[in-house]
Amino acid sequence: MEGVPSARRARAPKPRGERNSVLFVCLGNICRSPTAEGVFRHLLAQERPALDVDVDSAGTGDYHIGEPPDIRSQRAAMQRGIDLSGLRARQVSVHDFDRFGLILAMDRNNLRALQAWRPKASRAEVRLLLEYAEGLDDLEVPDPYSGGQHGFERVLDLIMLASRGLISALQQRGAAL
Ligand code: 4NP
Repeated sequence: MEGVPSARRARAPKPRGERNSVLFVCLGNICRSPTAEGVFRHLLAQERPALDVDVDSAGTGDYHIGEPPDIRSQRAAMQRGIDLSGLRARQVSVHDFDRFGLILAMDRNNLRALQAWRPKASRAEVRLLLEYAEGLDDLEVPDPYSGGQHGFERVLDLIMLASRGLISALQQRGAAL
């Protein structure tokens, strides 16, 4: 997509003199973005517990507000020791563009929705999550909702890869301050 940096060009968010804050966004907030929230929290706690990050997830759609993550996402995450059961879906709000320094979309449809909603005064960076994953040609996390369990495993793999890259980027940002 025009204007979207390649994985190699992805950078840590600009220093804002504030706490790191990341919002993961998909359509329903029941499959991909709660998985990203859970995986990122898990890896952060394991690998960089001193890194202070405000983490959340939301959907551009309103179809599943208040629901727990899809059971197939919960199963795929639980197989890797990550419990998503306490999460509940919510929709992106205009306040998110104030609260979060980095807003990461799972695919280009959601990226476009976020760019359209982003208030002009917002300093949030809005990007694709997979810009933080090394070595991928396709920067979209495929929507697994209408497919089988294999799609949910693929979502986990992609999100694990990108989460590690994102943690490194935030770590570098911290070191640069
Ligand atoms: P997600 O997956 O955006 O990764 O949460 C979906 C969940 C629900 C629907 C589509 C995608 N839906 O059409 O209800």
